[in-house]
Amino acid sequence: MHTQDREKRTYPFPEFPNGWYVLANSSDINVGDVKSYHYFGKDIVIYRSSNLAVHIVDAYCPHLGAHLGKGGTVVGNNLRCPFHHWQFDESGKCVDIPYSEPQPKACLKHWAAIERNGQIITYFSTDGSAPHCEVPEVNELQGDKFPGWSQSYFSKFEYTAHVQEVVENIVDLGHFIPIHHVEEVPHIDEMTFSGPRATLRYSTKNKVLGKIFKAMLHFEYYGPTYTVVKVKTMTDIVLIASMAPTANGQLRHRFHFRMKNMIPLLNPILLRIMAKQIEHDFMGDLPIWEHKIYREHPILCKGEGAIMKMRNWFKQFYSSETPPTKNAIPLKEVS
Ligand code: FES
Ligand SMILES: [Fe+2]
Repeated sequence: MHTQDREKRTYPFPEFPNGWYVLANSSDINVGDVKSYHYFGKDIVIYRSSNLAVHIVDAYCPHLGAHLGKGGTVVGNNLRCPFHHWQFDESGKCVDIPYSEPQPKACLKHWAAIERNGQIITYFSTDGSAPHCEVPEVNELQGDKFPGWSQSYFSKFEYTAHVQEVVENIVDLGHFIPIHHVEEVPHIDEMTFSGPRATLRYSTKNKVLGKIFKAMLHFEYYGPTYTVVKVKTMTDIVLIASMAPTANGQLRHRFHFRMKNMIPLLNPILLRIMAKQIEHDFMGDLPIWEHKIYREHPILCKGEGAIMKMRNWFKQFYSSETPPTKNAIPLKEVS
């Protein structure tokens, strides 16, 4: 079947909800690094100045359009363009031109940038609105300041989906047996919504290597794209789950894991095994997301009410001025 003959995947809301998006790990950007990324269909650059601050800026120089990630350098706290060596300060203002007066009109766009829980995060909104909540500092992820916990384990992978489908999936109880192979349909013990925050608790029973393990999961949502998950199973695991759109409907998903120490020398291996298991479970959904359409008015059965509650909560993250998503998240080819 030719691509143009296929169903189109459209959504009655915009492609990007307003929220906190993790773009990189803190350890990816050392002092003096200037690195190129592509998010929200835009080229951006992330750099760390001498005072340790991280900055996220548009990739193209306001002068004659050179890509700042291709040869741009950090000079003190400024970013210097590779083409004519104009320098931009931490507010984006042009502060130095080697052969002329600084041009105040030449301003480099800075994106919101914070560093928290070992990651670099921006706030993206389609209407320029202010952040709807703060990103918390999670004690268990603060390293030596919180003893008894392992080192961090980070992972990332990509897939095609709309952010809302990923969040909605967590309360879609009927898919847990067919897709995630749990032993019984989970029961939601708690689900609360309060402005941009939401909380969800449920437990599952999973079979790993022939043995059944019970896991209690506690999700804390800070807007649509930044979630702190606390898992109680053989030990305690804390993770940040986040996703950020790159281009053509792709999401870059990131996990940051730590676990309560179990056996000192084996902790890194045990964490890796458990993290891989969580990732593996998560990835069960990918083939469904990559091929599914969005049903605005689904036919649901008894016990599936949480899906619509989650959808209602999600509405607040879309700017009413931003048009709905048409064909931006292509369906994967069915071979
Ligand atoms: S293009 Fe950047 S300084 Fe000229
Ligand atoms: Fe799932």
